[in-house]
Amino acid sequence: MIWTYVEQLKNHVGQRVELRGWVWNIRSSGKIHFLQFRDGTGFVQIVVEKSTAGEDTFKKASKLRMESSIRVTGVVKKDERSPSGVEVLADSIEIVHIPQEPYPISKKDHGIDFLMEYRHLWLRSRRQFHILKIRDAVLFAIREFYKNRNFVLVDTPIFTGSIGENAGNLFELDYFDYGKVYLAQTGQLYLEAACMALGKVYNLGPTFRAEKSKTRRHLIEFWMNEAEVAYYEHEDNLKLQEDLVSYIVNYVLKNASEHLEALDRDIEKLQKVSPPFERITYTEAVKLLERKGHNIKWGEDFGADEETAIASEFEKPVFVTHYPRKAKAFYMQPDPDNEEVVLCADLLAPEGYGEIIGGSQRIHDHDILVKRLEEFNLPRESYRWYLELRRWGSVPHSGFGLGIERTIAWICGLNHIREAIPFARTLYRIYP
Ligand code: 4AD
Ligand code: MG
Repeated sequence: MIWTYVEQLKNHVGQRVELRGWVWNIRSSGKIHFLQFRDGTGFVQIVVEKSTAGEDTFKKASKLRMESSIRVTGVVKKDERSPSGVEVLADSIEIVHIPQEPYPISKKDHGIDFLMEYRHLWLRSRRQFHILKIRDAVLFAIREFYKNRNFVLVDTPIFTGSIGENAGNLFELDYFDYGKVYLAQTGQLYLEAACMALGKVYNLGPTFRAEKSKTRRHLIEFWMNEAEVAYYEHEDNLKLQEDLVSYIVNYVLKNASEHLEALDRDIEKLQKVSPPFERITYTEAVKLLERKGHNIKWGEDFGADEETAIASEFEKPVFVTHYPRKAKAFYMQPDPDNEEVVLCADLLAPEGYGEIIGGSQRIHDHDILVKRLEEFNLPRESYRWYLELRRWGSVPHSGFGLGIERTIAWICGLNHIREAIPFARTLYRIYP
């Protein structure tokens, strides 16, 4: 007997196969049981009829309850009405485990806190299955994009001695004789070192921010993909970003569209995502916001409301460039035409999903960087190595960081980022 998976059943129509998985729901009517079955690759209905399955198997099926695990054999039948296109007519069942208690996640509407408390089980539900399949596609697309362009994957450390982004939201911990070290907010500084060795580099990993914001866009632990390229200037950086984001969206449309459909995502909106993306400057954005009645002064960073208002003017993601120097991180290259602003961009996703990328050209002049560290009150000793990159063969270079979960939330159309990661770390949750 061949053990196969639900996703393969279409290739086995008319054959007898074995499936191994879980029963997530059961409907019965006298002489027939309908088992809603899943095996991690998909969902299918298994029909157990007394007449074909026999008395014994039928009795076994009567004992099943939600989240029983079984090995089952049966014949694959075409079924146009089912989303998988097939159903299985069972002839034997081997019970692996029958729960002794009712499954906590029943069909009735549970509140989000309850579901997050049971996240370890909630992952088994259909909606979460589809989201995690899209997450998998997004991460694969990112790796493939860089591979196609001969970028080198450089894994950056999680424990860091120098503050990468912002002194305000660091996780500190004790590190033997060194005293305090931080969990990485970003791997950027290390990628800057690596791009001087390998040219085009990227990373993909978890980052940590002790942000006390309880919004639908913030996680405490989130994944980021960063890229850094030697000799890239501001405009090269934006081109790389619009290519990357378009590649990811198109990959998902091509390879995971059934999951988007299962989530009722408006696919037409995603189909519009292709280069080039529009660029507006921070100063233009402030004027736009004033016209729309927002109370914002030049120099302030944008919040979620402002980002949503700006993005709503565009169908595709939009770059907001040239932010005030003082509103952004210490390492950004000043604009030669106006030293008050920097050569940076935030990429805002459409439909209110906010900033999915932050990036910039980096300061490559040693002395300007020293001045900036002072302005930002950052300890020069911790940046010795970072400054040394500017002492030997310093060149213009640029890079960015893409927030993985924000990107997934946008592509899936989720209204909260916590569903975009298997086990979310938020202000009030560390279990499961
Ligand atoms: O804009 P950020 O802070 O940029 C950096 O860390 C740069 N060092 C990246 C670089 O240039 N190499 O963060 C980058 C992205 C944001 O645009 C956002 O998508 C995401 O990371 N992000 C978060 N996602 C979820 N929860 C949070 N608390 C996030 N903070 C940032
Ligand atoms: Mg940012």
